[in-house]
Amino acid sequence: MKKIEIQKLVRAAAQARGRSVSPYSKFAVGAALLTRTGRIISGANVESASYGLTCCAERIALFKALTEGERDFVAVAVVARWKGGPTPCGACRQLLAEYAPAAEVFIADTEELARIRRFTVRGLLPRAFRLAS
Ligand code: THU
Repeated sequence: MKKIEIQKLVRAAAQARGRSVSPYSKFAVGAALLTRTGRIISGANVESASYGLTCCAERIALFKALTEGERDFVAVAVVARWKGGPTPCGACRQLLAEYAPAAEVFIADTEELARIRRFTVRGLLPRAFRLAS
């Protein structure tokens, strides 16, 4: 991916973060997925008073994209106010491994959006559990 495309995806994640619904943790996270056709689908974390019902930004973005018919993902960007950027939690890694196995993962701290760290879904969750081939 070109640097300019990565920056655009990170900016989309940062914009989505502004719509986070996180009254309990006050930890706002934004995510943006890039499809092979160039479409960007973003999401932010949504929390519940029953804390365990909270859904991460990555999963919100992924569920939005999947239910809009998207299946082929090239990359995902995740942004929060966290030094070095927020690394996706284990649950999100599992979902990404299932539905975006070939994707690259870009993370950034909102205070330093130009400093982007790069991973892969495969690298973040080696030997992920799968049922379908
Ligand atoms: N969160 C995400 O949205 N993505 C992650 O990868 C880790 C955590 C959210 C869940 C919760 O709303 C808040 O951050 C604090 O855990």
